[in-house]
Amino acid sequence: MPAALQNNPDTLLKMPIGVFDSGLGGLTVLKELSALLPSEDIVYFGDSGRTPYGTKSKDTVIRYTLQDINFLLSHNVKMIVIACNTASACSLDTVSTKYNVPIVEVVGPGARAAARITQNNRVAVIGTSATINSRVYEKALRNVRDNISYIGKACPMFVPLVEEGWWDNKVTEDIIRLYLDDLKCCFPDTLILGCTHYPLLQNTIAKVLGSEISLVNSAASVAIEVKDTLLKNNLLRSDTEKKGKISYYTSDSVEKFAALGSMFLGKELDNVTKIDIDAY
Ligand code: DGL
Repeated sequence: MPAALQNNPDTLLKMPIGVFDSGLGGLTVLKELSALLPSEDIVYFGDSGRTPYGTKSKDTVIRYTLQDINFLLSHNVKMIVIACNTASACSLDTVSTKYNVPIVEVVGPGARAAARITQNNRVAVIGTSATINSRVYEKALRNVRDNISYIGKACPMFVPLVEEGWWDNKVTEDIIRLYLDDLKCCFPDTLILGCTHYPLLQNTIAKVLGSEISLVNSAASVAIEVKDTLLKNNLLRSDTEKKGKISYYTSDSVEKFAALGSMFLGKELDNVTKIDIDAY
């Protein structure tokens, strides 16, 4: 248990929320979190030095996830948000009961949101190879309703495009078309963006797929789940007039993370620090 968790309840409330992803993708979750819980402090770690996770073996993703969580715990966080579908898919069984802080992941909230939206019960999911091969979304959708047809498609080139800042150029549009054109043959009416990087490509994906398919970005549902979890564990800050501080950490270039992160969040990121994740 982090030392501060043994402290009095007031100290506990003031501890930050820890969020991690393999790189920039988790910022899509952080954006919703800081909008819903503006007075909470947040420590964000993006493992851009080792991205992508989605093409790596399950054992490697579990090892990375444990290091990412250890890093966040070293900042005395009161809860962990796994803002990465790949890490959620590969390591949730390993980490869910290992720590004394609550852990929220991204797969369940996305599946539940899609099940609410679909009219024809045909839901497609795009994600990294690791996420799609795990069939974690199929299980999560069937847990909500067993008559939902599931169509899964791995799109391994999307994450490098996002990390490069190529969110809406012609090459990106062509690659999206190559991956997604054949999905239309299965007639899904709902598509889960099953990787937290993909909302950065959302406009280009929508352009390729057209308006008949609703896109589900689970970030807003994850933020609600974080709030509910904090409430349930008596960890939600009550000093709501206070503006929360967000600290960013990356395992790669600070300049690149700050430039792309600022573009996405629409504000300057002047507090980005590089860390050596192998030390955790
Ligand atoms: N953004 C992550 C996800 O949601 C990881 C992508 C990757 O590193 O391959 O799956």
